[in-house]
Amino acid sequence: MVSLRPAQTNKAGKIAVQPLSLSGKCIVLGVTGSIAAYKAVTVLRLLVQAGAQVHVVMTESASRFITPQTFEVLSGHPVAQDLFEGHQDMKHLSLTEHADLLLVAPCTANSLAKLSLGLADNLLGTLALTIQCPFMICPAMDGEMWEHATVQNHVAVLTDRGVIVIEPEIGALASGQWGRGRFPEESTIFDEVVKVLGIQQDLNQERLLLSAGPTREPLDPVRFISNGSSGKMGFALAEAAVARGAEVVLVSGPTQLKAPRGVSLVSVQTAEEMLQALTVHFPWATTLMMTAAIGDFRPKFPLSQKLKKSHWDGEALVLERTPDILLALSAQRTHQRMIGFAAETDHLLEHGQIKLTEKHLDMLVVNQVGGEKSAFDNDTNEVYVLTKHAPPQFIPRQTKRTLAHALLDYLHTLSGPLKTATSTIIS
Ligand SMILES: Cc1cc2nc3c(=O)[nH]c(=O)nc-3n(C[C@H](O)[C@H](O)[C@H](O)COP(=O)(O)O)c2cc1C
Repeated sequence: MVSLRPAQTNKAGKIAVQPLSLSGKCIVLGVTGSIAAYKAVTVLRLLVQAGAQVHVVMTESASRFITPQTFEVLSGHPVAQDLFEGHQDMKHLSLTEHADLLLVAPCTANSLAKLSLGLADNLLGTLALTIQCPFMICPAMDGEMWEHATVQNHVAVLTDRGVIVIEPEIGALASGQWGRGRFPEESTIFDEVVKVLGIQQDLNQERLLLSAGPTREPLDPVRFISNGSSGKMGFALAEAAVARGAEVVLVSGPTQLKAPRGVSLVSVQTAEEMLQALTVHFPWATTLMMTAAIGDFRPKFPLSQKLKKSHWDGEALVLERTPDILLALSAQRTHQRMIGFAAETDHLLEHGQIKLTEKHLDMLVVNQVGGEKSAFDNDTNEVYVLTKHAPPQFIPRQTKRTLAHALLDYLHTLSGPLKTATSTIIS
């Protein structure tokens, strides 16, 4: 199971818990002299945010593209560059002694060749010959360089040796050309790291039913009432749960997001459709997580044809309530854990506690919406987690990707109605 750090009180007096997916992992990040070197900063930040200790090693060329100070500040450790500097510490041996992963990102054609041949004329090459841990390389270069037979030979040699080579992506290259050679999305690299570092398959008994995104309630065939939810939190949860062995059905309103690999996506538009889809899958699920921002109201008399400007007589729009999905599902509940999400602009804890009780939830995740800290369409979020038997816990701001793992950790602490003898929900 992914470790839960003990709850701590932070300066604001809030209970803080930081369950992080890479807690306790030590990663050596090699950065080489590619135009994509600056992207290693984001990779570093994702790893650190997920709780990893990261030690950065730079080649001389890499420091022509980005300064070591950036990595030092963000990793909290000195950057190692010179094979001979501080040689008393035997850095070329000691740095990787406790490493769980050597990650070279980005890796130039030059460094790829050296690593393939086992050349040890710089710190990175020397370290690579000492490691006992998994080794991952993310090449980035111009398309023609990547296609070159020599480069491909080196990739084949390294792959044969068990090195994980993350293929560069197709896209616009620094040269202005289009082709394969582009440094992958930093989040893709993060996901690969999470996989390699053996995020335990601790959710392999879970069948997770997730809702995500906004709903759209039509006024007429071209207009609708909706909200600003991007679906990012729900999609991040789906991806993280699959990585940890869960089966996932994701019922999503309209979003721009691609279904994560291994996730069964059911696309819906309205709250009514969302209820129907969730009702179909609910008996199958062990856990329901409702991250969707479901519209509370819908036009009472949607038109079957587009309302013409000239035909509108100034009548007010008549709205009615959409179905209360959580209440409807809790009435059909047999064994499922039920986790809700609340989007609040104010009095987060007070409103959250009411929703937790009224909707008979095992857990409620409360987000702030509106204003600068809004959870909507943001890549990061901070939340309160409310459960029935523990004080509220605050999870500080982090990427939705790492937050997803933190929230999934709570599944181990929730017993669900069947195992709770005194539960009032099934009585
Ligand atoms: C502006 C510029 C951008 C470069 N970008 C790349 C690159 O993306 N990939 C690559 O393999 N080499 C790239 N190079 C070439 C490497 O910097 C060069 O091969 C260097 O010797 C690599 O050293 P290293 O592997 O020790 O870091 C670039 C060079 C320049 C001047």
